[in-house]
Amino acid sequence: MNDLHPDLARVVVSTDQIQSRVKELADQISTDFADRETLYIIGILKGAFIFLADLTRHLRVPHNVDFMALSSYGKTTSSGAVRILMDLREPVEGQHLIIVEDIVDTGRTLDYLYRVLKGRKPASLHSCVLIRKQRDNLNIPIDYLGFDIPDVWVVGYGLDFADKHRTLPYIAELKRE
Ligand code: PRP
Repeated sequence: MNDLHPDLARVVVSTDQIQSRVKELADQISTDFADRETLYIIGILKGAFIFLADLTRHLRVPHNVDFMALSSYGKTTSSGAVRILMDLREPVEGQHLIIVEDIVDTGRTLDYLYRVLKGRKPASLHSCVLIRKQRDNLNIPIDYLGFDIPDVWVVGYGLDFADKHRTLPYIAELKRE
């Protein structure tokens, strides 16, 4: 691509690749949940808002949408504690939940969400993640996965660097400097 922003090194997942994979994920979820009651889609802010908007518009099953916002302390430290900044508006006991995340990096956020949401006694709990960074020690189950990518810093399609580049339609690697 000739018009890449100077902060960016290369496109990692193109707009066309994202759009066709998001449609496939929505089709798979629609098939798997065809005979269930209303799905409860939980988007994790901020990063998931674009993926969630595209994914849910392809769903062919009834669904509600709600959001959580989380904060993680010290991603580079061993503590990596996660806390809830904004919670769901309603109890989810007995609901079929799907967590929608833009990216799994260390896996701590998704692991925390599984524990918190399981504790609320849903009928089922699944995850739909667009991007997983390939790391040796990452062993967290993901039910619906868009793409595996190398362990590089990426931006676009919801992902940011200091809140920049979130609304790019593709996912690109950030230059190191
Ligand atoms: C990103 C992403 C996930 C989390 C994944 O959020 O949206 O929620 O990091 O990282 P982990 O697997 O190492 O836990 P971030 O903290 O950057 O916040 P943002 O979505 O508001 O930008």
